Amino acid sequence: MIGGRYLMRTQDWATVILPLIHRDPSVLGEDAGEFRPDRSLPESSRGRPPHSYKPFGTGERACIGRQFALHEAVLVLARLLQRYDITGDPGYELAISERLTLMPRGFEIALARRTPVTVGQAG
Ligand code: HEM
Repeated sequence: MIGGRYLMRTQDWATVILPLIHRDPSVLGEDAGEFRPDRSLPESSRGRPPHSYKPFGTGERACIGRQFALHEAVLVLARLLQRYDITGDPGYELAISERLTLMPRGFEIALARRTPVTVGQAG
């Protein structure tokens, strides 16, 4: 029984629509559809239902690359942010492109080097 409401038998299956879970007003409030990265801060997300955020899927077919992806993201972001200031077009209006993942369509960023290049540090 799911949530005391939906009877699941052995052969039954369910599809979890992650984009809807991640925009659930009962969890995030009425502005659930707005892009507000501060929602992810520990002080904002504390106390939320544990299954209300599942970027790597759920159940038996969940992402096997999760740990790798999280490490890679931290390493790549740390390296980029250490070396570059990143700016985007402040007037950009979000348009979502659905490919393997959801992406902002036509959104471009500019990188400005933060520190002078020293020998052996280029790139
Ligand atoms: C931020 C990065 C990533 C995100 C958000 C992500 C997300 C997901 C999600 C949501 C699924 C489940 C799809 C479904 O339920 O049908 C999935 C499956 C999968 N992911 Fe990832 N993924 C990421 C990175 C990676 C990486 C780096 C690898 C491999 C090195 C990987 C390998 C896989 C594989 C093989 C599956 C299929 C698992 C199966 O069907 O049994 N993913 N991923």
